[in-house]
Amino acid sequence: MSTPSALSKPTIAFHWIVAIAIIGMLAFGLYLEDLPRSPEKGELMGLHKSFGVLVLMLASLRIVWRVKEGPIPAIGDASGWQEKMAKGIHHLLLLATILMPVSGIMMSVGGGRGLDVFGVNLIAAGEKIEWLGQLGGATHGVLAKIMIAAILLHVLGAIKHHVLMKDNTLTRMLGKS
Ligand code: HEM
Ligand code: HEM
Repeated sequence: MSTPSALSKPTIAFHWIVAIAIIGMLAFGLYLEDLPRSPEKGELMGLHKSFGVLVLMLASLRIVWRVKEGPIPAIGDASGWQEKMAKGIHHLLLLATILMPVSGIMMSVGGGRGLDVFGVNLIAAGEKIEWLGQLGGATHGVLAKIMIAAILLHVLGAIKHHVLMKDNTLTRMLGKS
């Protein structure tokens, strides 16, 4: 197909680092959800929160980069409904990379547990804030499911471009074109 303009190195690096981190965190969270209460679960939960805050920092930098650089250039005609849907999913995924950790922090602070990151206390434990904990918990749970569905559609789209349409969408994100 057309020769698309290459993606910048930071765009490619941010995409794959955040993608792996998010998939790992989703799997970690779902694993934790099914564990019975135990000291081990408490420790793993601490790690989940700490890594989640790192993902928040990384995802925020990525959004700053995306705003600074502008949207990635389209390959071919970008006016069809599938291309519009792909763009919509990109925006949803970008937003969710921020809202997932933020809602997690809301859950932790709202539950009166404050926020520790790898043993460093960032927000002191205090009174429970019922509405904050509930809003955070509901958002964290529902958005996780929405995100999993969006990632599946996103990956199917990438496979379709590569296998059926045989264009450079995937190879470009792998830095090969
Ligand atoms: C990219 C970042 C994150 C992702 C993708 C993620 C994903 C998940 C998922 C899929 C679950 C299981 C579903 C659920 O119980 O709601 C979960 C549970 C949980 N997450 Fe996260 N999480 C992230 C960051 C955080 C952060 C930063 C915190 C807190 C500081 C946090 C706190 C929690 C807690 C407390 C639970 C357990 C909820 C329960 O007991 O049901 N998460 N996470
Ligand atoms: C591991 C499986 C994944 C594959 C094969 C994949 C593949 C791709 C490809 C080929 C593009 C370029 C699309 C285009 O040129 O229009 C892209 C863009 C994008 N992907 Fe993924 N992706 C994966 C996982 C993820 C995950 C987990 C996220 C969630 C954070 C994500 C978020 C994005 C975003 C936001 C863009 C738009 C480009 C940007 O803003 O930097 N991807 N992906």
